[in-house]
Amino acid sequence: MDQDIPVAERLQPITKSKAAPRGGGWAIASAIVLVGLGGAGAVWFLNRATESPIATETDPTVTSTENLLGHLPYEEAPLSELEPVSADGQIKLRRAAAERFRAMVAAAQQEGVVLMPLSGFRSKQDQDYLFFEVKEQRAQRASERALVSAPPGYSEHHTGYAIDIGDGARPETHLKETFEETPAFRWLKKNAARFSFELSFPRNNPQGVSYEPWHWRFVGDRHSLQTFYKARELRQRNQP
Ligand code: DAL
Ligand code: ZN
Repeated sequence: MDQDIPVAERLQPITKSKAAPRGGGWAIASAIVLVGLGGAGAVWFLNRATESPIATETDPTVTSTENLLGHLPYEEAPLSELEPVSADGQIKLRRAAAERFRAMVAAAQQEGVVLMPLSGFRSKQDQDYLFFEVKEQRAQRASERALVSAPPGYSEHHTGYAIDIGDGARPETHLKETFEETPAFRWLKKNAARFSFELSFPRNNPQGVSYEPWHWRFVGDRHSLQTFYKARELRQRNQP
């Protein structure tokens, strides 16, 4: 693929012919010039044809080299930025997300809905276990595992902005597609945007990740928005 060739090399101007016409023979000289011009034209045309993929490399959106099995790379949030969002203090989110999540839990509770945090920030080491160990336990191929779990370094959970939410009154639906039939999911669908949470992996998402009605991400400040803008633009580009 020409994507593997450095841009500067792909943009090399054509090499000029070393053989300059010498002495008599206008016909020969003209023929050489015509052939040269034809060749130059062909190379110009080919260069034009490869310009658009090159141009997209400067586009600050997703390129094929940036994702791994459909997942995008994310940095781990600094531990000092994390705050607990569960009663036992084990599930944590980045400060701004934690504040809005707690407000969202309180608002849902007012309407009799129990939003239960199931998983928040995860380190690359946590994800290493979830991806590779579980893949082996289930005898899955990497591509199969990636449908439901991101490889380490590629999970939204590293950012401290993503959270898996369950319905406290319906534990049998935790981390299952049937979560979408619960009051908690219905409430989230209607209200999560008021707290700047959005579903990361809706049905048929362009990343090709399985539908996860329980996995929500915070996009309520500049940093979180910048963190996810690649995934967002990928989704928007694929929307009709
Ligand atoms: N389950 C989501 C894709 C993750 O592992 O980050
Ligand atoms: Zn998740």
